[in-house]
This record gives sequence, structure tokens and C-alpha cells, in this order.
Amino acid sequence: MVLPKFSLCFWLLLSPLLILFMNYPVKCDSDEEDNLYQGINKYRASINLKALTRNDNADCLANKIADQFKKQPCTNTTGANTVPGTEPQFSNYPDLLSKCDLAISNTRDGNIMPVCVPGLVPSLVLTNFTKSLYSDSLNDTTYTGIGIGSEDNWIVVVLTTNTPAGTFSPYSSNGANLISKSGLLYCSMLFLVGYIFLL
Ligand SMILES: *[C@@H]1O[C@H](CO)[C@@H](O)[C@H](O)[C@H]1NC(C)=O
Ligand SMILES: *[C@@H]1O[C@H](CO)[C@@H](O)[C@H](O)[C@H]1NC(C)=O
Ligand SMILES: *[C@@H]1O[C@H](CO)[C@@H](O)[C@H](O)[C@H]1NC(C)=O
Repeated sequence: MVLPKFSLCFWLLLSPLLILFMNYPVKCDSDEEDNLYQGINKYRASINLKALTRNDNADCLANKIADQFKKQPCTNTTGANTVPGTEPQFSNYPDLLSKCDLAISNTRDGNIMPVCVPGLVPSLVLTNFTKSLYSDSLNDTTYTGIGIGSEDNWIVVVLTTNTPAGTFSPYSSNGANLISKSGLLYCSMLFLVGYIFLL
């Protein structure tokens, strides 16, 4: 499983210039995240809604949020079972945003949905979104994009919109920075892991 990712990341690392010219998308997602992405879009198709497109910066934020949650155990009051209005707040949220090249102004309309499933069993992960209160948001035509991140037993979905306050477009967009820092960091980590496995 590591090898195909390894080779893609290998090239991502070795040929950054080529990638800049080709506007090559960063694709180093875990299987759990890909499964969930496909599952959510199948769910959307089943109720005649447009597929959500993957957003790199929302992916980054989802990973940062999952990282905040990862040490918390799964209980019947966490994740999809959280009572609305009692969601955990992170005092370092502005930092997490800026690490993903985002700001309050272009993320306000977004929606962050954390889920906790031991072992991230794909079928349970999907139903935690589609058969919980979160389905309310998945049913919503306002949302057009999605980011997914996971850490340990936690997987986080971030929904984005087409409105200026929900685009999750890079805040300091300068046109040349086509590879997100997070994507590159993630690839570097996979690269190292892949390298260790090869040796
Ligand atoms: C959650 O679990 C605790 C025991 O672990 C139980 O007492 C409580 O009733 C449960 N709450 C719900 C809403 O299922
Ligand atoms: C969500 O996942 C938990 C495991 O953490 C599982 O017990 C529960 O049944 C799932 N809920 C739904 C609605 O699928
Ligand atoms: C979302 O739509 C599905 C299919 O129409 C429905 O079963 C579900 O109850 C809706 N969710 C909410 C929270 O309204």
C-alpha cells in the first residue's frame, strides 16, 4: 500500500518544477479518506445532489482538526453523537487556519464534522455521516466542496461552499504556490516511511 504512494510522492519531491508546470494535483490520501469521499458522493448521487469536489485546503484543515481530536477516546457523546451546541472549541483554531493558508473570512460558511470510530471501519464511518444529524449538511445543496482528514480513530469532514465566505481558497494565493505546504509535508513523511520500508 505504501509503494504506489511512495512512488507518487517520490516524483512529487524530485520534480517540483515539473509539477509546478503541470499543475499536478497532490494525491496522497489515505484509503479511509478515499473510501469516505466516494461513499459521501454515492450518498449525494442517491438523493440527486451534485458530487462534492475535493478541496486541498479543506483537506489540510480537516487533518489539523483530526490531530486536535486524536487523543480523545470515542464515547457516546463524541463525534457524530455530540449534542449540537456542545461541540469542542479549539482556542488555537486561528493558528490551524493559517497553517492551512486559510482565514476566518473565507471559511466562515464551511462546516466541520468530526467522527470517532475505532479502527475507522469504512461502513461505520460512512453511516456516522449519512445516518446521523450530519446528514442534514450532506443533504444541503449549499455545500459544493469537501476536505477529509484522519488521525487514529478520528476522521473529519470539512464542507465548503461557492460563496466568498466558504471557498476555502488559499488566503495568500500567489499563483506559483500550486502545491500546498501540507500536501508536501505529508508526502515527505510518506516518502521517509516508504524509504525505510524499502531498506
Ligand atoms: C452513554 O454511555 C453511558 C455509559 O458509558 C450511559 O450511562 C449513557 O446512558 C449513554 N448515553 C447515551 C445517550 O446513550
Ligand atoms: C458511529 O460509529 C460508532 C462507533 O464509534 C458506532 O457504534 C455507531 O453505530 C455509528 N453510528 C452510526 C449512525 O452509524
Ligand atoms: C437527508 O436526506 C435523507 C434522504 O432524503 C433523509 O433520509 C434524511 O433524514 C435527511 N437528513 C436530515 C437530517 O434531514
